[in-house]
Amino acid sequence: MKHKIGILGFGTVGQGLAEILLSKKEELKSKYGYEFDIVAVGDFKFGNVYNANGLDIPSMLKEASVGKKFSKDITDWDNINLIKNSDTSVWCELTFTDLVNGGPAVDHVKTALKAGKHIVTSNKGPAALCYPEMKKIADENNCKFMIEGTVVAGTPVINLADGPLAGCKITKIRGILNGTTNYMLTEMEKGMPYDEVLKVAQSKGYAEADPTGDVEGYDARGKVTILANIVMGAGIKITDVPCEGITKITPKDIEKAKSQNKRWKLIGSVELTENGVDASVKPEMIDISHPLAGVSGATNALTFTTDLLGDVTIVGPGAGKIETGFSILTDLIKIHRG
Ligand code: HSE
Repeated sequence: MKHKIGILGFGTVGQGLAEILLSKKEELKSKYGYEFDIVAVGDFKFGNVYNANGLDIPSMLKEASVGKKFSKDITDWDNINLIKNSDTSVWCELTFTDLVNGGPAVDHVKTALKAGKHIVTSNKGPAALCYPEMKKIADENNCKFMIEGTVVAGTPVINLADGPLAGCKITKIRGILNGTTNYMLTEMEKGMPYDEVLKVAQSKGYAEADPTGDVEGYDARGKVTILANIVMGAGIKITDVPCEGITKITPKDIEKAKSQNKRWKLIGSVELTENGVDASVKPEMIDISHPLAGVSGATNALTFTTDLLGDVTIVGPGAGKIETGFSILTDLIKIHRG
């Protein structure tokens, strides 16, 4: 069966996914029996396009790279009609994240699932704000709502808990869930001032479009909420999670940590307790000998505490064009494998 892929949002991640799919087309077919056409793309900047036989993705990537609107296969369907009317089997929802009300992504996800089309997304909005509702609609329509990319990009976290760690009881998850702030803290330790280092993080593409989400901890809080609800069935709202970012950390605080052989890290934590699930995001001074203290730059790391294996730690990229593009590919393959 040939998968008919639609992509909503042809920004960094959408283009990263398209590049991966193009470059791995033969490998995906020979190794996994995965065959596909990208038949629909919707993007507010480049336009909406549809071709049931497959779009000319190389040309589209070329046009997007110079900020030009798509010139072929243009349709006047808006996003919702593109989802409904196109002959697609799966939609990759890669539009911008809105952690306040979910933005248009929530409508995109609902529309696709109700039309019997799978969703694969790295958009934290629908997953952090309304996972139970989306999952219910997916189940009712025999579809998948796949969200590996919502937590630390392609580094396997959701699929790790759901797959290889199935059978273990996960009692705690703790780690560095935001690359921008980890990069900033690493550079601030070397003496770079806060404002300067934030600009560099933005120029490197780690930071969200509005970096407030990173530095105030909201991005990490979205990920903590997703983990709490999906891995531990917490049933909590994003606003239930206490959250403090790194904006109040001064050069003096950094020196204080150094003098105690410690290092500041923005830690996201989810823990099963007798009363339910405790979740939080806050900066902590971590002893230099602790494994999380050694995770520097934009890298993310998470330790799962389990009943049968003890601690299992995964370290990897938490952002980036290809890294997040891969998160979508891995879920597409998972759907294909059933
Ligand atoms: N801005 C995020 C980060 C990207 O820095 O980790 C992935 O959510």
